[in-house]
Amino acid sequence: MHLHQCFNFHDFRELARRRLPRPIFNYIDGAADDETTYRRNTRAFEDCDLVPNILGGVEHVDLSVSVLGQKLALPVYCSPTALQRLFHYDGERAVAQAVEQFGTMFGISSLGTVSLEEIASRYTFPQIYQFYFHKDRGLNRAMLERAKGAGVKILMLTVDSITGGNRERDLRTGFTIPFRLNLQGMIDFAIRPKWAIDYVTHEPFRLPQLEQHVKMAAGATSIGDYFTNMLDPSMNWEDVAEMVKQWDGIFCLKGVMSAGDARKAVDIGCSGIVVSNHGGRQLDGSRSSFDQLQEIVDAVGDRIDVLMDGGVHRGTHVLKALSLGAKAVGVGRYYLFPLAAAGRAGVERALGLMRAELERDMRLMGCTSIQQLSRANLRFR
Ligand code: LAC
Repeated sequence: MHLHQCFNFHDFRELARRRLPRPIFNYIDGAADDETTYRRNTRAFEDCDLVPNILGGVEHVDLSVSVLGQKLALPVYCSPTALQRLFHYDGERAVAQAVEQFGTMFGISSLGTVSLEEIASRYTFPQIYQFYFHKDRGLNRAMLERAKGAGVKILMLTVDSITGGNRERDLRTGFTIPFRLNLQGMIDFAIRPKWAIDYVTHEPFRLPQLEQHVKMAAGATSIGDYFTNMLDPSMNWEDVAEMVKQWDGIFCLKGVMSAGDARKAVDIGCSGIVVSNHGGRQLDGSRSSFDQLQEIVDAVGDRIDVLMDGGVHRGTHVLKALSLGAKAVGVGRYYLFPLAAAGRAGVERALGLMRAELERDMRLMGCTSIQQLSRANLRFR
């Protein structure tokens, strides 16, 4: 199977599965507990049908959107995600190049493997910094100051990860950073020699956002343990209100799932929220983002930008979310499997397919601009 044979999420996932060592593939692919929320995130889109209009004169389609004060050429952005150079040796560099080319936004995770400064100095797309709130308040302040200095545009605080989700696939494979290989692990890596050679012949794995503060190398830790041991479960609305003031710029709260919390996010001065359940990786049984989008847009959509992510594989999924009132839609695994499968070329292919689907679907819907999408285009079963 080759990249040119990949036409959708499932194809990229399969190619990534063949190329990645099993613990790494399962880290990306897996979710919490029984993975019901992970599955529901995508299925929720199937309970909603599109109602197209005809004869709209749809020769020219404009896919651009304005969100969080940024003009994007596409209504889809690449959510910041962790550990990317573990998936492909180019990691965030490959994604950034593709994102720049497609005119959307992306950014570095607190657990990113390339520095904020490098990405900010090489690219012009609006840079997001995905922030985790650590127990060490001094670390939080230092990270914020550093992000300001680097020229980050959007601070995105993820609030659904104050303790590790129960990711049983990671427990089973023993996935940790840095690796501690048991016998099974060694076999898993040995049967993916291309990945293993790429990994050892490129720049050593680093976590440049954290390495000055956290001694990751001192002991292997799982992502779940990192959340549980390093992140602050006492974080509350006052802490975040304080952070919004300190940041004094575009601040987006990610992981909002209730209308009440969305109203509080407005009250403390957030510029936007992301309706998200972390790709089903934290609280299994949590409602899907798409199922929950409508009531959140109804509560705050006129005062704040509402974004969403979770389970988005198709242009039609994006159009459904935008029709409900989302201002932009984030993808995670949708670009991570292509990254793992083929680096920059993979991400470019995935974004290219997404753009082509969006253009085609907009024409078939009878719409020439994203603003024309509305709830009149949707029916729930
Ligand atoms: C995860 C974190 C690191 O879901 O965002 O694995």
